[in-house]
Amino acid sequence: MIIWAITAVSLIFVYLSVRGLLLYRRFSELDEFVEDLARGGLDRRYYLRGKSGFSKVLYNLSIFAANVQEQTRENEACNNRLQVLLKNIPDGIILMDAKGRVRSLNPAFEDLLHLRGNSIAGKGLAESLNIAGMGELLARAREENSGKKETLAYDSKFIEITAMPFSDPVKKEYAGQVVVFRDVTADKRIDEIRKDFVANVSHELKTPVTAIMGYVDTLLDGAMENREDLSRFLKVISFQVGRMDQLIKDLIELSRIEFGAVAVEKRPVQLNEMAGKVISLYEEQAKAKGIYVRSDISDECSTIQADPGILSHILSNLLDNAVKYTETGGVVLRAREGDNYSCVLVVQDTGIGVPKKFVPRLGERFFRVDPSRSREMGGTGLGLAIVKHLVITMGWRMHIDSDPGRGTSVRIYIN
Ligand SMILES: Nc1ncnc2c1ncn2[C@@H]1O[C@H](COP(=O)(O)OP(=O)(O)OP(=O)(O)O)[C@@H](O)[C@H]1O
Ligand SMILES: [Mg+2]
Repeated sequence: MIIWAITAVSLIFVYLSVRGLLLYRRFSELDEFVEDLARGGLDRRYYLRGKSGFSKVLYNLSIFAANVQEQTRENEACNNRLQVLLKNIPDGIILMDAKGRVRSLNPAFEDLLHLRGNSIAGKGLAESLNIAGMGELLARAREENSGKKETLAYDSKFIEITAMPFSDPVKKEYAGQVVVFRDVTADKRIDEIRKDFVANVSHELKTPVTAIMGYVDTLLDGAMENREDLSRFLKVISFQVGRMDQLIKDLIELSRIEFGAVAVEKRPVQLNEMAGKVISLYEEQAKAKGIYVRSDISDECSTIQADPGILSHILSNLLDNAVKYTETGGVVLRAREGDNYSCVLVVQDTGIGVPKKFVPRLGERFFRVDPSRSREMGGTGLGLAIVKHLVITMGWRMHIDSDPGRGTSVRIYIN
């Protein structure tokens, strides 16, 4: 009887020990799995092996890990797409938090403002950038809770800044702003050129129209009874009409060149012959002023590839200026082979020259060193602008050098 009892107790003991051991192993397995999860080991999997509670827990944990892993991958992919977007957007973008601190920025922002991101990350945007008017813009966007846009000046640039406030989707309260920076310096410049152009054209037309109206009124008031006055005033009117006519022709020509409506047909041109023809147009004028006009063309440049009509137009505009702005000495039309060019054409004069600070402006539409003197001579101030565009149309390059009181040389590099 006692033996049976001892045997039964031993069996129970053995059973419990084995069961405990198994439980311990399962528990260790679970413990290891969970620890792995905690360390981020999301790719571990457990396949259902039985119906025991531990098996199910491990299996469900493994499904949970797979879901989290999938979610993490999706988040990473989404984040990568966002980074690619931010990196490649040409506009500078800043994410600002509710306290006005920079939380995120893209490379275009750093390039635009010549800043390194870490110099302003975490700092107040308005204070760090010091763009006059930006603090007010951000404050207005926040107060009115709507996007605000303004163009502000920064370091010789014009930057269009758009501030867009956003709210926390859960708390529904102001959470910060997305601020977009776009460089509009070029647009602004074009806008100014356009405004200047309209103002200049109006002014250039108004001057002769006013003069014509004045003379016509004087004639109608009785001056036409006097044959001498009539003839004198009609000559002035004819000069002013001529100016307007020239201005309109020049404007039409400029716009034709700019719209690419000028056909270029390059062929071999005998430069000596062409120079002779163009010079003959100005010989009389030069003679009257007591100055010389001559050509000096090297053998290598005796024939060049050019559109004859365009080349003659370029040369006559340059000779016109050279003769017009030279009082002593004279003008030479020179052509020599260049280092990287088949030929370099130079129209060189010993005239009044152009002050150094104005040289870069030569070729701007309506730019004249002395507007009234140019107008008196019937100039529209479009001659060099036309030359500049024609040179580009031919695929050439132009460079102007000038020394006040000593003369000007305009070089054209022919390839
Ligand atoms: N060779 C030159 N010497 C000195 N100044 C020059 C010379 N060429 C151009 N300039 C200056 O550049 C300005 C612009 O020249 P541009 O040829 O465009 O106009 P313009 O000669 O005044 O008028 P237009 O050519 O329409 O008759 C001139 O008004 C003059 O001040
Ligand atoms: Mg001119």
